[in-house]
Amino acid sequence: MTDTLTEPAARHVVTNPAILYFGTPVVLVSTRNADGTANLAPFSSAFWLGDRAVLGVSHGSQTYANLRRTGQAVIALPSSDQADVVNRLALTTGHPTPAAYKLARGYAQVADKFGRAGLTAVPAQVVDVPLPAETPIALEAEVVAFHSEPGSDGAPVTELRVVRVHAHPELLLPGRPNRIDPDRWRPLIMSFQQLYGLTPRVAPSRLAAIDEEAYRR
Ligand SMILES: Cc1cc2nc3c(=O)[nH]c(=O)nc-3n(C[C@H](O)[C@H](O)[C@H](O)COP(=O)(O)O)c2cc1C
Repeated sequence: MTDTLTEPAARHVVTNPAILYFGTPVVLVSTRNADGTANLAPFSSAFWLGDRAVLGVSHGSQTYANLRRTGQAVIALPSSDQADVVNRLALTTGHPTPAAYKLARGYAQVADKFGRAGLTAVPAQVVDVPLPAETPIALEAEVVAFHSEPGSDGAPVTELRVVRVHAHPELLLPGRPNRIDPDRWRPLIMSFQQLYGLTPRVAPSRLAAIDEEAYRR
């Protein structure tokens, strides 16, 4: 009976998408290879909790191998006008022996990812990992925890502590050296497998009545 009563108001259909990528920023994770060269790879499973970056990095990637070995990374955020950079890195791996499923999907092994991306590697300050000069934001980070092991059923979640934030100065609020202006920062967003930018601010946020400094740990 209840079903009959509520049915006319139903607005959804049941669907079963293969992926649930509703929109997250694209990051470029820079790591150090065992031979001392650098790797750089795009990931969009990324969100933030306080000073932590939480990334979904597949266990078969070169990035994961490097994170396991060194515990260090630079998480660079391209802007929405740098989609071409991300597309140049798409379908590449720095892994010396790419997994068969990646080769079947058209991935190619590329040793010089910074060169491939057209980005300039500059030294970071805290971690021994190069940082791309051209991305507006670059976060130096150290691994805190791997939340699942290869071969387990858990999602490949890596938690990192951000230890230094680099920003192009034009992103900062005038007179506020520790505030990124969200009206100036234009992240590149991946929704499902496509790339987007953000629209301008759609409404004033009630949450923003809280001073951002109140969140500092
Ligand atoms: C826009 C974009 C987003 C991606 N997001 C992820 C992701 O969140 N997690 C992941 O494991 N791979 C993701 N990939 C695929 C990796 O880039 C791919 O596994 C790559 O081979 C990793 O490089 P590496 O082996 O040199 O570390 C993404 C690729 C692109 C182009």
